[in-house]
Amino acid sequence: MTQSAERPTGTAEVGVTGLAVMGANLARNLASKGFRVAVHNRSQAKTDALIDSHGQEGEFIPSESMADFVQSLATPRKIIIMVKAGQPTDAVIDELVPLLDADDIIVDAGNAQWEDTRRREQALREKGFRFVGTGVSGGEEGALLGPSIMPGGDPAAYAELAPMLEKIAAQVDGEPCCRHIGPDAAGHFVKMVHNGIEYADMQLIAEAYDVIRTLTGASPAEIAESFRQWNTGVLDSYLIEITATVLDKVDERTDKPLVDVILDAAAQKGTGTWTVQSALTLGVPTGAIAEAVFARAVSSQPDQRAAVRKKFGDAPFETAEDKAQLISDVEQALYASKIVAYAQGFDLIQTASKEFNWDIEPGDLATIWRGGCIIRAAFLDRIKQAYEADPQLWNLLVDDSFAADVTGAEAQWRKVVGLAIANGVPVPAFSASLAYFDSLRRGRLPAALVQAQRDFFGAHTYRRVDAEGSYHVEWSGDGAEVSAD
Ligand code: 6PG
Repeated sequence: MTQSAERPTGTAEVGVTGLAVMGANLARNLASKGFRVAVHNRSQAKTDALIDSHGQEGEFIPSESMADFVQSLATPRKIIIMVKAGQPTDAVIDELVPLLDADDIIVDAGNAQWEDTRRREQALREKGFRFVGTGVSGGEEGALLGPSIMPGGDPAAYAELAPMLEKIAAQVDGEPCCRHIGPDAAGHFVKMVHNGIEYADMQLIAEAYDVIRTLTGASPAEIAESFRQWNTGVLDSYLIEITATVLDKVDERTDKPLVDVILDAAAQKGTGTWTVQSALTLGVPTGAIAEAVFARAVSSQPDQRAAVRKKFGDAPFETAEDKAQLISDVEQALYASKIVAYAQGFDLIQTASKEFNWDIEPGDLATIWRGGCIIRAAFLDRIKQAYEADPQLWNLLVDDSFAADVTGAEAQWRKVVGLAIANGVPVPAFSASLAYFDSLRRGRLPAALVQAQRDFFGAHTYRRVDAEGSYHVEWSGDGAEVSAD
């Protein structure tokens, strides 16, 4: 490895600190696109491993210390941090700051909690640095071959990063899957919601699989075949594609389908939960996403599952008479539910954008999520078109083309949810999606009764459909309605 004394100083165009798989792959992606990349990791072994295995892929400048790493960069420096979100990110920033000069740019490419990004952006701006909280999606392979990149922060800083980030991003129809999302934490907020949608999409696919398997008795390999067919239609997406591959996989130890020997307890690192927390705070209904998060939580309660199962056992179920029909119905139910999950995610982003003055263009998101990221899907082209037709579109369900699709799928959607419920197959995300659709379309909701209940026990008042103002009933008195204004 190059020693400090003979190290070329100040020539690297970009630096990456944090060389676990995502960071190392991002550094390799940059180097393979012709950028001179300074690399650093807290423990030297990872830096050495990167240089030993991939040093020939491009120009890397490795450093053992943070000071040497910073020195090896051309100014204004562009430093990408790719470490575990949370405290480790703060630790790296604290170590970097005394070594930087004004106008240097720090890019946090981890899955940061967006409120942390707001705090960091403001603190660093006040010190004269530029902080670009950046969502990166696509997993290990995406980071290496072309991720979807969602940068926030100062637009002028983004302009300096753009040639680099847009070059390493996935490309679809000649367009890079990278656009400046908006100021301060807009990039990380959008990445968080991307992950929330990812949770919903994964859960919906898992429910589709469970319904088909339980009610038709099809094997995982047979279901994989259906998924491959779905992947040529409206559901064409990365997640459907990988699910087919997963369902085909046979366990080498037991010769059983791998999916049957994996413990059915889904983990999470937090972004789905954060999405729902933000949705609750902003008052945006995101039931499909929330149910996907809760489904992972239920799966990870082994003691409660065992206790309830011991008491009740499986619900009785009947095998579907027409297997092909059920599979086709599930495809439609999955598609309609997926439209809802995206509608909820976009609503959350648009609401946050208004709340924080981020000015996010939803059409941009549809554009940059078409490639590189985990939720990439043919369907995003349609979302892009929907926002092109109406940039202010407030809910995907009212776009004419999606509305027509939902209308076309509605009967099957109801049938599948009804059938699943009748047969004891849990479909929390399917049902939450349908309930959201039914709630929005309904003329009157029982919320009127809830308002009356609130007024009864807490004098919380209600509004009337036929008069202005707020009212209260003297429930414990003479029962008269009085004005509460
Ligand atoms: C991506 C992924 C990636 C990761 C998430 C989800 O966009 O590349 O979303 O960020 O897979 O951390 O992980 P969990 O399921 O563990 O929350």
